[in-house]
Amino acid sequence: MELKEEIKRRRTFAVIAHPDAGKTTLTEKLLLFGGAIHTAGAVKSNKIKKGATSDFMEIERQRGISVATSVMGFEYKGLKVNILDTPGHEDFAEDTYRTLTAVDSVIIVIDCAKGVETQTRKLMEVCRMRNTPVMVFVNKLDRSGKDAFDLLDEIENELNIQVRPLAWPIGGGPSFRGVYNLYESKLSLFLGQDRQSRDGEVVEIDLYDDKLKEYISPKNVDALRTDLELVNGVYPPFELDTYLSGEVAPVFFGSALSNFGVMELLDCFVQIAPSPRPSKTVGRMVDPCEEKLTGFVFKIHANIDPNHRDRIAFLKICSGTFERNRPYLHVDSGKSLKFSSPNAFMADKKSIVDFAYPGDIIGLHDTGNFKIGDALTEGEKLKFTGIPSFSPELFRYIENADPMKFKQLAKGVDQLMDEGVAQLFTSKMNGRKIIGTVGMLQFDVIQYRLEHEYGAKCRYEPISLYKACWIESDDREQMEDFRKRKYTNLAVDKQGREVFLADTSYALSQAIERFPKISFHFTSEF
Ligand code: G4P
Repeated sequence: MELKEEIKRRRTFAVIAHPDAGKTTLTEKLLLFGGAIHTAGAVKSNKIKKGATSDFMEIERQRGISVATSVMGFEYKGLKVNILDTPGHEDFAEDTYRTLTAVDSVIIVIDCAKGVETQTRKLMEVCRMRNTPVMVFVNKLDRSGKDAFDLLDEIENELNIQVRPLAWPIGGGPSFRGVYNLYESKLSLFLGQDRQSRDGEVVEIDLYDDKLKEYISPKNVDALRTDLELVNGVYPPFELDTYLSGEVAPVFFGSALSNFGVMELLDCFVQIAPSPRPSKTVGRMVDPCEEKLTGFVFKIHANIDPNHRDRIAFLKICSGTFERNRPYLHVDSGKSLKFSSPNAFMADKKSIVDFAYPGDIIGLHDTGNFKIGDALTEGEKLKFTGIPSFSPELFRYIENADPMKFKQLAKGVDQLMDEGVAQLFTSKMNGRKIIGTVGMLQFDVIQYRLEHEYGAKCRYEPISLYKACWIESDDREQMEDFRKRKYTNLAVDKQGREVFLADTSYALSQAIERFPKISFHFTSEF
């Protein structure tokens, strides 16, 4: 198959949700209906159970699972579908943001009773930054929830995106009868609570066909017709372009647990979701159809097996064809690297691949060369953009707790930062190292992994900070003045860039006001 054909048939996406909305259940059902797995229960939840903050086995178990389910690829109707997993715990939100840099579209799951929740809002902001096309699956229709129109309003207002229903629920909660597929004018009937396969009753029928009453009660028929007249009156007809540009989100309703509405979602998704899109780099856009290979690392998993110092770097292929055993340029180190056993991921298995194409994710065994954001090319010195670190909000000094293990600690901290577990800042005033994270759990993870994987011991000391932000200015005078006045609050990040550590939100807003010629950035990419 030609490169163009391979690209056209790929769909690389992530399912994202606020914890508990049904991401794991929906992902599993997509795999089940896609024929990638044969029994429910094969995809383990990668959630860290509530209250497990100090349960390190749980953290390790989660890491193990998240390697196995990082990418779940399968063939469906001649297409290659790649689902990228995202961590379930909000302390790992930054991992999710990074995963979103490697997808071409997303499906957002919303619980019909809870509506739009905090994490959904944050994830949507990241999608908006990249104009990622979004589809919404309103889940748990088998339970009582909010009214469908109210939910659509809520999604529009809270997620700041126009919506267009492409499926409509018939009844809800105990009286849930099925969904009407607006995209294909098909009625899918809900036959029972324990329906575990996709072979429910699906009838191709026009909304105004008299026969509709043979399938659902006259009352439900009337309600459905009235609802859909309103839908068609309120929402403009679905236009593919507005979905692909990230302006309009098609909405589906269903129940992942009872397999309902999932098939409608999957079938519509594979038809309309985008194939790999061009990627941004400093200086130019990379088109997937370019002959030469390019790709970037968006995730690193290290030391899965403590007996082997193994790391897997996950490479998203952006253009060209990746070939096993062919030398490529690792742009950031200038080294030429060859990979004899690159892994492809199919559902819950991995295998060695000879070729991979744009949209695919491959796992590269790494001896410590890669860090997040690194590029692999056939010689061009590309720097992919859009893979930022976000301003951390939790901080602690990190100190060596075992003087004999200084080197181990330095190496461990260095590698964990390359993996993107947290960010490291060095105080300009006293040279002390500060770890910044987005979640409390990361501090435990770092301490535990330093000890178990690097044989090093660390201890934390409190530091009271509000936020870290990157600073830059063309105005040397103002910058020098700022440096003098804020000397105790300045640090450098791992790349040596200057960072302002604000004690309080007041101090930050004061600084922004008093130093108008300095730019304060809340992501590492500017
Ligand atoms: P997450 O990955 O988004 O965090 O959610 P997950 O799929 O783990 O689902 C969270 C809970 O919601 C699970 O119940 C799951 O069974 C339930 N659920 C998912 N989809 C539906 C649905 O369509 N209808 C109903 N009624 N429930 C749904 P749990 O009790 O927390 O876990 P479990 O013991 O069932 O695994």
